[in-house]
Amino acid sequence: MKQDTTLTAHPSGLPTEQIAELRKLAAAAAERSYSPYSKFRVGAALMLEDGSIYTGCNIENASYRLTICAENSAIANAINKAGPKIYVRAIAVANLNNAASMPCGACRQILLEFGGPSTWIFGPGENGLVDVSLGDLLPFAFHLAT
Ligand code: THU
Repeated sequence: MKQDTTLTAHPSGLPTEQIAELRKLAAAAAERSYSPYSKFRVGAALMLEDGSIYTGCNIENASYRLTICAENSAIANAINKAGPKIYVRAIAVANLNNAASMPCGACRQILLEFGGPSTWIFGPGENGLVDVSLGDLLPFAFHLAT
């Protein structure tokens, strides 16, 4: 019997079409990458709670460690347009190098600042596409106790 997949919800709660759209926008953002040193072109597309989408790409520097990752760049873009009170519902990451590129450790922490354990990450992993929550990607996260 043919299986009806239309009723199977994605664990993120987002429609699969929306996830596909985020992935597409992340790949388009990677086209704008400035990465003459690594030649690793990364793009990110994040969605806020109201459904608005902001993109970013990696921006490298001759002084290598000044590089801005695509995820961080997307967050900066979102804050510049929507203000600091944002909650990142989901973020897709893509690269034009046909490689795995899940958010680096630093980006996971930055994402947590403007999202939470239920923020979803859609990226290319070692064995194909990965859909994972930030809670699973960054367990035992750092929180500032004041
Ligand atoms: N990069 C990102 O944009 N996001 C990550 O999460 C990891 C790495 C970029 C930084 C640098 O321009 C290139 O990928 C190679 O490290």
